[in-house]
Amino acid sequence: MVPRVSSSSVVRLSRVLKTYRVGSTDVKALDDITLAIPANRFSIVIGASGSGKTTLLNLIGCIDTATDGAVEVCEEDVTRLSDDRLADFRSRHIGFIFQNFSLVPVLTAYENVEYPLILLGMTVASRRQHAMAMLEAVGLAEHAHRFPNELSGGQKQRVAIARALVKRPTLVLADEPTANLDSVTGASIIALMRRVQAELNTTFIFASHDAQLISHADDIFAIRDGALLEHRMETEQ
Ligand SMILES: Nc1ncnc2c1ncn2[C@@H]1O[C@H](COP(=O)(O)OP(=O)(O)O)[C@@H](O)[C@H]1O
Ligand SMILES: [Mg+2]
Repeated sequence: MVPRVSSSSVVRLSRVLKTYRVGSTDVKALDDITLAIPANRFSIVIGASGSGKTTLLNLIGCIDTATDGAVEVCEEDVTRLSDDRLADFRSRHIGFIFQNFSLVPVLTAYENVEYPLILLGMTVASRRQHAMAMLEAVGLAEHAHRFPNELSGGQKQRVAIARALVKRPTLVLADEPTANLDSVTGASIIALMRRVQAELNTTFIFASHDAQLISHADDIFAIRDGALLEHRMETEQ
């Protein structure tokens, strides 16, 4: 396949290899991946369990580093950044949404959403304004003072979406965001992500095998055993 390379790509991977050392053997998680992911779209990485989806998202999200090859995110060659600069880059540009929501259990919904803004050094008044506006946008303003264990799965994922988007990142990475939700709740979460993507002009990159989510994707990257099989563009924008 020929990778689609355009000037509006938000992520570019070139000949990326990722191996994990397990005991005395190397496990090849990603095998020579070259791809370009367009900005301001819903792109999805699909593949069976163990195919390398999470590894790929972790490299794009600068949570993990490639064994070889080039990883460019928001026009920055992240393989060249020091750990400090990488952490700063990540907190400015990237929001994460996880399968298990990953909310901080001892913080309220409001405090979970406010937290990334504390890391950015924002004032109390601005934090309040941004966090409440985002909770409002995901339909949870009236539950702002609830703790995660007082919320349903769908509500938890709404809080996680608000937390990922509150700092207005360029890129949101969502690893199987609907896997722990029933299909009706999953559909409402997909619709919410679609709406905020259009409103905020955010790029979403998913890893999933949820047929419902796949049917909403603009671009599909299929991987198997760490290798890219094909890239389909479902809709032109
Ligand atoms: N931290 C790790 N240490 C060793 N092997 C790993 C690690 N993370 C992932 N792998 C291996 O890499 C491959 C890809 O895993 P992963 O990216 O989690 O796939 P997926 O998200 O598609 O299920 C699998 O063979 C998995 O066992
Ligand atoms: Mg995974």
